[in-house]
Amino acid sequence: MKRFEHKVAIVTGAGGGIGSAIARRLAEEGALVVVTDVNGEAAAQVVSDIVTGGGKAKAIAADMAKKDACFGLIEQAFALQGRIDVLVNNAGINRRGNLLSLSDEDWDVSFTVNLDSMFHLCRAVLPHMIAAGGGAIVNTASQWGLYPAPNHIAYNTTKAAVAAFTQNLARDYAPDKIRVNAVCPGEIHTPMLEAGVKRSGRTIADLDKLVPFGRIGKPDEVAALVAFLASEEAAFMCGSLVEITGAQAVG
Ligand SMILES: NC(=O)c1ccc[n+]([C@@H]2O[C@H](COP(=O)([O-])OP(=O)(O)OC[C@H]3O[C@@H](n4cnc5c(N)ncnc54)[C@H](O)[C@@H]3O)[C@@H](O)[C@H]2O)c1
Repeated sequence: MKRFEHKVAIVTGAGGGIGSAIARRLAEEGALVVVTDVNGEAAAQVVSDIVTGGGKAKAIAADMAKKDACFGLIEQAFALQGRIDVLVNNAGINRRGNLLSLSDEDWDVSFTVNLDSMFHLCRAVLPHMIAAGGGAIVNTASQWGLYPAPNHIAYNTTKAAVAAFTQNLARDYAPDKIRVNAVCPGEIHTPMLEAGVKRSGRTIADLDKLVPFGRIGKPDEVAALVAFLASEEAAFMCGSLVEITGAQAVG
C-alpha cells in the first residue's frame, strides 16, 4: 500500500526510536520524508537506510528547542517540493523526578522540547497546509499524559498539554481540513525507554510482565498507527487521542 505517494512528510526526532520507525514507514509508503533530529549523524543514517531501500528522504539537523530552528525546518522542507502534507511532531525528552527533586532546568527544557516545539512548528506549517486545502498533523503524546505514572511530573504535564494542544488545534482548523491527532503510547522499546529501565534497576523482561499483552510495544507498531492517522484512510479522525498500550494500565 502506497498511501503517501507524491506527498512530503516531516518527522521530528527521527534519528532514533519511534521517530526513525515512523520515517521509515512513511518512506516505504511513498513519501518524501524529511528526517530531522538534533543528532544530525543519526538523521543522516536513517536517510541513508531509507535511500538504500529505494525510498526518498532528506536529513535536516535541527534542534527543536529553538524557535528559529523550528521555522527554518518548515521553510527548508517546503522548498523541496512546494508542499508539506504531513507533520509528525515526535521529538521528546523525558526528565525524571517529582516536584521537589526536579531542577528548574528540567521543567523548562521539558516544556521547550515537548510542547513549545509543536507550537512553533504548527504555526509555521499551518499557512502552507491551509493554502494547499488541507494536511495532517500527528503529535506524539503519551499514555502518561492521560494517566500519570509516578515521579515524572514534568514529562507527564507536558504530555497532558500535548493532548490538550492537539484537541484545540483540531477544533480550530478542522474547517480548513487540517486533521490533527495524537498517539498516546504506553511502554515502547526505544533508547528512551532503555535509559529509564537502566535508571530504575529493572529489566525489559520486568516491563514485559506488566503488560497484559505479554510484552512492551515496538516502534514499528506506533509507526503503523501514525501512518494510518496521517493517511486519507483516517479522513474523519480529527482531535483524537489514540492510546497504543497493549492494554497496560499505568500503575
Ligand atoms: N518509548 C516510550 O515508551 C514512549 C512512550 C510514550 C511516548 N513516547 C514519546 O515518543 C517520542 C519518541 O520517543 P522515543 O522513545 O523514540 O525517544 P528516543 O529518546 O529513543 O528518541 C527521541 C529522538 O528525539 C531526538 N531529540 C531529542 N531532543 C530533541 C530536540 N531538542 N530536537 C530535535 N530532536 C530531538 C533524539 O535525538 C532522539 O533521536 C517522544 O515524544 C516520547 O515522549 C515514548
